[in-house]
Amino acid sequence: MPDQPPGLTSTPEWRALAEQRDSLKKTSMRSLFASDPERSNRYCIEGAGLALDFSKNLITDETLAALISLARQRWLEERRTDLLEGRKVNTTEGRPALHTALRHPGGEQILVDGVDVVKEVQNTLDRMEVFVNSVLDQSRTGFTGKTFTDVVSIGIGGSYLGPKLVVEALQPYWNGAISCHYVANIDGTDVCETLKRLNPETTLFLIQSKSFRTQETLENSKVARQWFLDNGGDEASIASHFVAVTANVPAAESFGIEADNVFPMWDWVGGRYSLWSAIGLPIALTIGMDHFRSLLAGAHAMDRHFRDAPLERNLPVIMGLLSVWYNNFWQAETHAILPYDHYLRSLPDHLQQLDMESNGKSVTESGASLDYQTGPVIWGGVGSNGQHAYHQLIHQGTRLIPADFIIPLTTHNPVATHHAELFANCLSQSRAMMAGKTLDEARQELLQEGVTEEVARQLAPHKAIPGNKPSNTLTMETVSPETVGALIALYEHRTFVQGVVWNVDPFDQWGVELGKQLGKSILPKLLSQDAISSAGDSSTDHLIRKFRSANGL
Ligand code: F6P
Repeated sequence: MPDQPPGLTSTPEWRALAEQRDSLKKTSMRSLFASDPERSNRYCIEGAGLALDFSKNLITDETLAALISLARQRWLEERRTDLLEGRKVNTTEGRPALHTALRHPGGEQILVDGVDVVKEVQNTLDRMEVFVNSVLDQSRTGFTGKTFTDVVSIGIGGSYLGPKLVVEALQPYWNGAISCHYVANIDGTDVCETLKRLNPETTLFLIQSKSFRTQETLENSKVARQWFLDNGGDEASIASHFVAVTANVPAAESFGIEADNVFPMWDWVGGRYSLWSAIGLPIALTIGMDHFRSLLAGAHAMDRHFRDAPLERNLPVIMGLLSVWYNNFWQAETHAILPYDHYLRSLPDHLQQLDMESNGKSVTESGASLDYQTGPVIWGGVGSNGQHAYHQLIHQGTRLIPADFIIPLTTHNPVATHHAELFANCLSQSRAMMAGKTLDEARQELLQEGVTEEVARQLAPHKAIPGNKPSNTLTMETVSPETVGALIALYEHRTFVQGVVWNVDPFDQWGVELGKQLGKSILPKLLSQDAISSAGDSSTDHLIRKFRSANGL
C-alpha cells in the first residue's frame, strides 16, 4: 500500500461525486421519494441495536455507489483493520488508537509493543470493580466512617464530557447511592459552587487526567484538596478520599495520591475516546459495574458491526460518507446533532469534541496542505426544545445544515401521550426539512384561510419552505447501557471514516497546544506587580492592563 493516496480532489471518484451533485441539484428529495416507494426500506440499515434511516438524504443509488468507491479509493477497509488491530494510526504521535480494546470482551490478544493491552484492560476493569463495589457496599468509607454519597469528577475535555454524557443518559439505571458532580472549568465558580453543596466526610474525589498536566484539572484538584483539609480532613485521610485516573502515575503520586489509588490510562487512548477506561469511574459508581460492562458490550457490538458489515450496510461508514458528501460537495459548514431524548441532552457537547478535535485539521497525514474542507462545525441540542430556537434557520435560512435526529422508540417515562408527541415532533421536523412547502402550496393554504389573492401573493414567499434539507434518523428500542454504548461508538467510527477520506490524523490535537503555551506566558504578566512587558500585541497588552487595574495589581 503506498504511503498516501493520490490527491483526493483529482481522483475519478471525486469527479464522479461532483457530477452526482450537479445532477441531484436538478431534482428534489420529494420527487426521489415519489418515484421510489421502496426508498425508505432500501435506505434503512441496522447494527448493534441501532437503526439508521438515511432515506431523507440528497442521494441516489449512484451517489451511494460513488461514495463507497471513494471510500475504497482511500483504502478505508485496510485503514479500519489498522485501527482495530492496533497499528500506529496516530501517525504524528506514533501511537495506535485502541479505544476499541477498552471494550473488548477478552479472549483475544492485541499487542502494543509486545504487551497484550486486552489483558491490561481486563485487569483494570477488575480493579475498578473492586473499588466500585467497596464504595457501594460501604466497606470503603470516608474519614469519619461515613458512607460515600457524592463523587466529584475533576477533569476536562475527554476526561469530562464523555462521563457526564453517559451518567446523564443512564439516569434510569442509577443505583441511587452516589450523586455525581463535575468540575472542569478553570473559572473558580465551577469548583466553588460545587464544593458549597458537599460534605467532605462523604465526598470522594476522582482526579481524571490522562496527562496529569492539564492546568484546569490540577488547579481545581488543589482547591478541592485544600477544601478537604480545611473542613476536617487530614493528610492521612487524603488516601481514602482522593483517587486518580492517569497515564502519568509519578505526577499523580507527587500530587499526593497513593499508587494504590491510581487507575491507569494509556497513551494509546485519546482523551476524547477514553470514557470506556477508568475515566468512566463516575459512570461505574453511579450505575454499578454490571451496567458499565453492558455499556462496553454495546460499544463492542458496534465495533463488530463496523468491522464486519459490508460498507453499503455499515452505519459508521454510511454516516461518515454522507458527512463528507455534504461537507465537500454541498459546502455544508455545520452538522446538527438533534437527540430527541432528554437523557441524551449532552450528546451534542460530547460529539462536538469528538468530531471537531479529531477532524479539525488542515494538513494531510504527511503534512501537505489540503485543498478541500475537513471537519464541519458540530452543534445541536435536545428536541423538541430546539424547534423553538434554532430550527427556523435550518428550515428557512440560506445554509444547508445536515442533521442527525436521534430518538428511542420507547420511553422510560410513559407520561400521558408525551412520548408519541415527542416522536411526532421529531418526524415532523425531518419531514419538513425534506419536503418543505412550495410557493404554490403556501399560496393555496393562505387562500383557504380566506385571505385575498393579493395578500396570498405577498405572504406566500415568507411561508414557503425550500425543503431538500438532508437528515438521518437514528432509532433504538430504548435508551439503555447497550444502546448508549453503541451510539457513542458509532460516532467514534464515523469520525474515523471521515478522517480516512480526508487523509488527516484524527487522533492528534496539536492546535489545542498553542493556547496552552500562550496561557503559560500570559498568566505571570497578569499576576505580576512589575511593569508590563509586552505579550506581543497591543490588544493583548491593553487587556492585561485592564485586568491588573480592576484587580488592584
Ligand atoms: O484540551 C485538549 C485535551 O488534550 C483533550 O484532548 C483531552 O481530553 C483534554 O485536553 C484533557 O486532557 P487530560 O486528560 O490529559 O487532562
